[in-house]
Amino acid sequence: MLRAVTKCFLHPVAGRRMMSYSSLSGKVAIVTASTDGIGLAAAQALGRSGAHVVVSSRRQANVDKAVSQLRAENIQVTGTICNVGNKEDREKLINMTVEQCGGIDILVSNAAVNPFFGNILESTDAVWTKILDVNVKSSFLLTKLVVPHMEKRGGGSVVFVSSVAGYQPIPGLGPYSVSKTALLGLTRALAPELAQTNIRVNCVAPGVIKTRFSSALWQSEEVASEFLKMLSIKRLGKPEDIGGVIAFLCSDDASYITGETITVTGGINCRL
Ligand SMILES: NC(=O)c1ccc[n+]([C@@H]2O[C@H](COP(=O)([O-])OP(=O)(O)OC[C@H]3O[C@@H](n4cnc5c(N)ncnc54)[C@H](OP(=O)(O)O)[C@@H]3O)[C@@H](O)[C@H]2O)c1
Repeated sequence: MLRAVTKCFLHPVAGRRMMSYSSLSGKVAIVTASTDGIGLAAAQALGRSGAHVVVSSRRQANVDKAVSQLRAENIQVTGTICNVGNKEDREKLINMTVEQCGGIDILVSNAAVNPFFGNILESTDAVWTKILDVNVKSSFLLTKLVVPHMEKRGGGSVVFVSSVAGYQPIPGLGPYSVSKTALLGLTRALAPELAQTNIRVNCVAPGVIKTRFSSALWQSEEVASEFLKMLSIKRLGKPEDIGGVIAFLCSDDASYITGETITVTGGINCRL
């Protein structure tokens, strides 16, 4: 089905079959935590589909590097600092995007932190506050800020980044896993209300993707091989495995999908 509505062509140099989702030309896409890993791959995929992407993270040096990298790929990009846990930063991100890019069509809420590893009963009030503020509340509060701007454009698309841990808590990562389950609920809670103004809300739940954030899960061969046993596709994920799915969810090819979470795990069985 997907193949019928997308254009396939051969990459002239690599000779690889590539898929081009319907154009996002003229769209403005905010991707949070987008100077590395999955966020950067999402910005690349959206940018290659023609969107103007707004990248951000906590450190200016990381923002500058990501902007240069995307510009070198001929992607239209604007960069700014935004720690999503900070109200002022969230507001600045939205205001700057509207002023400099003329509106907002897409929000990919990708930022997450995990300041705790251990038995869940040893996690503190401060750990829960930090994890829920950054991983869950900021996703909701950013959505609340972008909705009026999407309404002005006649609709839009929001994508949250959850995790396989949202379906089956990873041992030692209890509070983080619970925050990722909350995003599955947030997706479903927002979708019916926002459908009335033509805004779709979806979510992706990556498996183990090789990034700095997940390095504790793959740096040791012993731990990585335990994860590989759970996979049908016997390799760890790459950020671009997720970026393309995010771009698809933001495209018109996904115009009848809302309130959905797509698991992108290499075949890990995911159920709540
Ligand atoms: N990697 C995996 O296996 C995996 C699996 C499932 C889900 N996920 C989810 O995927 C998302 C991205 O993770 P990743 O693996 O791609 O991480 P990553 O490669 O380590 O990149 C993290 C990015 O987030 C930025 N960042 C960190 N804290 C931030 C904050 N408070 N506000 C704004 N930006 C912030 C970092 O830049 P600065 O340091 O400059 O802020 C960096 O650009 C997260 O939601 C994570 O839970 C990852």
